[in-house]
Amino acid sequence: MIRTNYLIIGSGVAGLTFAIKIADRFPDKIVTIVTKSNADESNTKYAQGGIAIVTDETQDSYQKHIDDTLICGDGLCDEEVVKLVVTEGPKRLKELIDWGAKFDTTPKGNFDLGKEGGHSENRVVHHKDQTGYEIERAILEQVHQKKNITVLDHHFALDLITENNHCVGAYVLNQKTNEIITFQSDYTLLATGGIGHIYGHTTNPVIATGDGIAIAYRANATITDMEFIQFHPTALYEDSIGSKFLISEAVRGFGAYLRTKSGHRFMPDYDPRAELASRDIVSQSIDLELKKSGDEFVYLDCTHLDVVAFVKHFPMIYDRCMKNGIDIFKDWIPVIPAQHYLCGGIVVDINGKTDIINLFACGECSRTGLHGANRLASNSLLEALVFSDKIYNYLAEVTVENNSENNLIPEWQSEMKPSLELNYCTEIKSKFQLLMRQNAGIVRSDADLLAAKSQLMIWQQELKETCKNYHISTELFELYNMITVGNLIVQQSIERKENRGGFVKFDTSCKY
Ligand code: FAD
Ligand code: SIN
Repeated sequence: MIRTNYLIIGSGVAGLTFAIKIADRFPDKIVTIVTKSNADESNTKYAQGGIAIVTDETQDSYQKHIDDTLICGDGLCDEEVVKLVVTEGPKRLKELIDWGAKFDTTPKGNFDLGKEGGHSENRVVHHKDQTGYEIERAILEQVHQKKNITVLDHHFALDLITENNHCVGAYVLNQKTNEIITFQSDYTLLATGGIGHIYGHTTNPVIATGDGIAIAYRANATITDMEFIQFHPTALYEDSIGSKFLISEAVRGFGAYLRTKSGHRFMPDYDPRAELASRDIVSQSIDLELKKSGDEFVYLDCTHLDVVAFVKHFPMIYDRCMKNGIDIFKDWIPVIPAQHYLCGGIVVDINGKTDIINLFACGECSRTGLHGANRLASNSLLEALVFSDKIYNYLAEVTVENNSENNLIPEWQSEMKPSLELNYCTEIKSKFQLLMRQNAGIVRSDADLLAAKSQLMIWQQELKETCKNYHISTELFELYNMITVGNLIVQQSIERKENRGGFVKFDTSCKY
């Protein structure tokens, strides 16, 4: 058994920024981060566009950012949370800069501000097209400098340990030794990120399997808004399953056009903001165009843009297209919508508290009320920064309770169990991902959802038994978690009777 004061599960922007602050505040307390891959592997690392922050109040204002967020969320945002997150932005940006993260500036020394869908002003602070990589680099460096933080990479959290609705720790699999470690903690933070691989086609890296949400669900935490899946309109089309390379929305903010195969620029037909309508509208419009034409992708046309400025701003995107044989100044880029972000998740209050005592959640796995029915572009890094600070401020004032120090915490029952057949997980996973794409994608129907539900219930029960009776592995638990989260998405989609934001069921009051 390992005892720690603060157990943080996940090493993206949410987990790491909380770790830095709490370790500084309580130098004599132990902070432990467990993370299931390399320490820097996370959705955070792949963020391209940047962070939406009002930095220049001559043209922009907090009110405009608040309004854009509310419009995008289609009436379902919590206005108090929106105000809080938007107005805290500049302070959190300054902290990142103090920790060593660099952001692009103009020759005059102001921030070089990008524009993305749904934003009425240029307000996206960025580091070329690799903002997440730069942030993760800087904050991980800070974490490694703190003597009271231990980072355990390749450690996979299996389940929380709860007693009378108090979280007292977690069971964690050391993926290299296969040992299951019992962690006893005073406070636990779930910062486990997104769910992309539930759909297979996603901009997310392979770590995004919804673990934290499934873990919280099994511990009886409330999980909501799971029907609000955000599909990014422009993932690079490649004829393969798995993580897809993102062509940032900032490229459309830079002036790129969306065209059908025949060359028609279709977005002005759907929305006066054309390519810069919010993401839900652009993805739904592409989906309709593809259904009309039977094509597999649409195109993003950059051929009219300033070559030098483009390469300076988007060097990674330029290189990746070149590697795929696409010279973006002559060729159009084939793109399709792909799963990108989950707006819902583990319900937390304004201090990041879940409804399990001493359990907090932050970042993409949490549901704060900021996004409502659809997240405004580049509001996600901002949300994680603001809420990790809120959790820190809350816990900075609370004396550590020595939660259950004297209680006996049961060890994980890990008697010898048989191993699974080699292809068991891969076969169910690919069937499951296909089912989610076909029955719970951009446009859903109750008939498809109900059919998916009955299959998911069978798999969920089967996986529950398999986890009990077979040797535990990351692959098996990830599959169990993905099916649990898929079930929540499908169930909450069935329950939603009205189309909002990123949620469209064609047999309800259709909006488009
Ligand atoms: P993550 O950064 O995903 O970190 C989760 C961590 O938890 C990882 O370290 C993971 O390994 C670990 N973990 C998961 N499960 C377990 C487990 N069972 N046990 C142990 N560890 C576990 N947002 C913006 O605001 N602006 C952008 O420009 C932007 N661009 C994006 C581009 C791409 C390609 C992608 C994929 C996302 C983008 N986003 C953007 C969204 C944003 O990056 C994420 O929502 C945000 O970084 C999530 O941070 P997080 O800390 O919550 O999770
Ligand atoms: C992008 O760069 O298009 C992604 C931005 C985001 O997800 O907020």
